Amino acid sequence: MTTVLVLNGPNLNLLGTRKPEVYGNTSLADVEKMCQKEADRLELDLVFRQSNHEGQLIDWIHEFGREVKAGNCIGAVYNPGAHTHTSVALHDAIEGAALPVVELHISNVHKREEFRHHSVVSAVCKGTITGLGVEGYRAALRALQAGY
Ligand code: DQA
Repeated sequence: MTTVLVLNGPNLNLLGTRKPEVYGNTSLADVEKMCQKEADRLELDLVFRQSNHEGQLIDWIHEFGREVKAGNCIGAVYNPGAHTHTSVALHDAIEGAALPVVELHISNVHKREEFRHHSVVSAVCKGTITGLGVEGYRAALRALQAGY
């Protein structure tokens, strides 16, 4: 079986308690369970990770870029959190590792503060899902599996 990575950046460990009016009541552990169920259905092995640290996230992107090259992984669903709007280093990591990434946001970033309207990573991602709540993770897994 081939692997898919679901990666979550800073503050997503607070899901369920952080601004529930924006991000909902579902915890990250529940999102992992939901992704596991969908991955099982799609016959994919799931690796689910979260970090608050940019360097750790970069190392994982490099690691899974190597797995894609080796034919063991189809890519990643990635919610970069606030790094979306600031991190050229993550842009360069995705591009440098040639990791196929679906960028994912739980909230509709375009309906929120102006500083959330621009993503520095979108240009090196396959596509973006924003504003579909945690349901977006399931949609992103299906898109990767379908080869988008
Ligand atoms: C987010 C949107 C970002 O603007 C924010 O910094 C997050 C979460 C989302 O999932 O909607 O931490 O990526």
